[in-house]
Amino acid sequence: MYKTVLVTGATSGIGLALVHDLCRRGYRVYATGRSQEALTALQAETDCLGSTADLTDPTQAVALYAAAEAALGQVDVLINNAGANHRKALLADTTLEEFELQYALNLRAPYLLGREALKAMVPRGHGYIINVVSTCALRHPSPMGIYATMKSGLASLSQVMMKEGQPHGLKVSTLYPGGVDTPFRSEAKPYYMLPDSVATTIATLLTLPPDVIVHEMTFRPPFELE
Ligand SMILES: NC(=O)c1ccc[n+]([C@@H]2O[C@H](COP(=O)([O-])OP(=O)(O)OC[C@H]3O[C@@H](n4cnc5c(N)ncnc54)[C@H](OP(=O)(O)O)[C@@H]3O)[C@@H](O)[C@H]2O)c1
Repeated sequence: MYKTVLVTGATSGIGLALVHDLCRRGYRVYATGRSQEALTALQAETDCLGSTADLTDPTQAVALYAAAEAALGQVDVLINNAGANHRKALLADTTLEEFELQYALNLRAPYLLGREALKAMVPRGHGYIINVVSTCALRHPSPMGIYATMKSGLASLSQVMMKEGQPHGLKVSTLYPGGVDTPFRSEAKPYYMLPDSVATTIATLLTLPPDVIVHEMTFRPPFELE
């Protein structure tokens, strides 16, 4: 049913594992991140297409979607996965620049890509948008306040995408992963979920029957109770 996938944040962590998993399953994948070196390595290891883009730049975000459509013919699945928390700090110690950077990457970019996807997918009556949020959007942790706020905004945006897309045959899923052991944070967390495990979990969504739509999915490593 779905043949082509655009994965953002594909040069590291969950997205990198996802591209490997999806390519092994036979999907045609368009991968993106900022690092040309990491993207070149990924393309040497898989048969994915791709290009670099800094998603904090709205022009690059919109152009990326067009590039993926041109390369794949059409994007069946958009996986809004790119994201970052740039620093842990109490709100009183944060800056406007940090707020705007978190907004640009974690909320504005998925909005722009999702908007482009809805414009293309709704007339086709076919497509799937998966938004990678975080359990931070449910827990509101104070030292990651701006990140959690933007992820909460993304969760809300994702629900709106569902309401606007589903009547036209689209699926939209809002994902709330708990801890994943990726370069997202500087220290290793071996008791967190493996990126490969998370990739398999996300890729499995694409194989569900057409009459089953996962609106929201929260999944955590065994030690996390909430
Ligand atoms: N790890 C966790 O515990 C966890 C838990 C819940 C949710 N998440 C979410 O899962 C998603 C993936 O995270 P991860 O753990 O895989 O982190 P990661 O290993 O740090 O990967 C982040 C990805 O986002 C890309 N990215 C960062 N800034 C970008 C920018 N300005 N423009 C374009 N791409 C950019 C990075 O590529 P470049 O560096 O090449 O630009 C990289 O491919 C994120 O949305 C994160 O919030 C993570």
